[in-house]
Amino acid sequence: MSESNLKSMSDLVSLSKRRGFIFQSSEVYGGLQSCWDYGPLGVELKNNLKERWWKAMTFRDDVVGVDASIFMHPTVWKASGHVDGFNDPMIDCKNCKERYREDKIDPSQPCQKCGAKDSFTEARDFNLMFNTQMGPVEDDKSKVYLRPETAQGIFVNFLNVQTTMRKKLPFGIAQIGKAFRNEISPGNFIFRTREFEQMEMQYFLKPGTQKEAMEQWKEIRWNWHLENGLRPDKLRWHPHEGNELAHYADAATDIEYEFPHGFDEMEGIHSRTDFDLKQHQEFSGKKLEYLDTQDNNKKYIPYVVETSVGCDRCLLALMSDAYRLEFEGDKEKERTVLKFDPKLAPIKVAVLPLMKKLEEPAKKLFAEVQKHYRAEYDLAGSIGKRYRRQDEIGTPFCLTVDFDTLEDQAVTVRDRDSMSQERISLDNVVNYLNDKLKF
Ligand code: GAP
Repeated sequence: MSESNLKSMSDLVSLSKRRGFIFQSSEVYGGLQSCWDYGPLGVELKNNLKERWWKAMTFRDDVVGVDASIFMHPTVWKASGHVDGFNDPMIDCKNCKERYREDKIDPSQPCQKCGAKDSFTEARDFNLMFNTQMGPVEDDKSKVYLRPETAQGIFVNFLNVQTTMRKKLPFGIAQIGKAFRNEISPGNFIFRTREFEQMEMQYFLKPGTQKEAMEQWKEIRWNWHLENGLRPDKLRWHPHEGNELAHYADAATDIEYEFPHGFDEMEGIHSRTDFDLKQHQEFSGKKLEYLDTQDNNKKYIPYVVETSVGCDRCLLALMSDAYRLEFEGDKEKERTVLKFDPKLAPIKVAVLPLMKKLEEPAKKLFAEVQKHYRAEYDLAGSIGKRYRRQDEIGTPFCLTVDFDTLEDQAVTVRDRDSMSQERISLDNVVNYLNDKLKF
């Protein structure tokens, strides 16, 4: 298959808006910086992605799921280190007041906004957590945080899950949910935002077995991205070394994807030791030990290997990877196609009657197809335009109902990628799709 030829992020931003994938939040009010709304097609794509992750991670013996609250006891964030240490170094341009993350720019260069030289302030720590008040009385005790990662909701439920589900080590807990970070410099469309969704899994294990688990999960997670259709040459590992390694980790590596702005982090796989559980045990005063009945009833705090992928970043990678502008400059043939793997495509099939007169059999077919697959019905415009629209949203198959349908009880199936067409009988449409969309 041909390669993505996406030239810039702006092409993706405009296609996303034009075709109902992603809109700027509060657009009628001029938008809100770095906040985005998923439209009808975006939410389908995102749901497909989340469903695939959930199945891959929890349809196994050793992983179960949770859905924890976004608000947590404020001491959680003290124990996890986020209150004191979840900071980025911030610098300001003294001339135009633009703010930057010091580690993301070269401070010896002029300000990117106003061009002033030597205009930066000293770096100072900026805590990335959002906070708000819980309840009607505003005081220090009512301060709560919007979680900056979903992981802590898993750590504090470790014993609840382990005992109720009677799990033995090693086992994992998976979760999908929103996280919030007051990023100093959000940007690159949905790559870095202040509200985003994470798909995280904490794998609890016996101390000393973390290296093996890390290798196992690295392979699983890499392959998952390939199974979604991402091309291997667009993925690479970025192991954390020296200063990059978080204080709680004994090993960490990222899976990076080559986004339109360059290679950047999509997923992190971290060996987090017993840091988090130990901290919660200390701050809560409650034992968070595991009783190992397979090893002389020893009690210990498990180690953890975590896999953490941003749903929005993953979706951005999928859209970038799927993008093709074909037959550029050819007025007749030019088309933009999102060549999603069919299992992720937001719409699987479109039913297109050639003329209004053919609505009756077309609607009947649509009703049948819709029982099985997310489908669209489109009567407006020339058939060529309708195919182009479906190409742009990545629909793998179009079913065209024409005048011959009335005679031969058959329709034309058009394949998105090859644009080849074949005739199949109406009775056989669902079987045909089942066969092609088997996953
Ligand atoms: N629990 C571990 C953790 O949160 P992280 O590397 O800070 O680790 C994990 O975040 C993933 O969450 C990242 O690899 C990225 O995909 C996503 N992510 C983090 N910050 C984000 C942001 N501001 N916008 C979008 N996604 C973000």
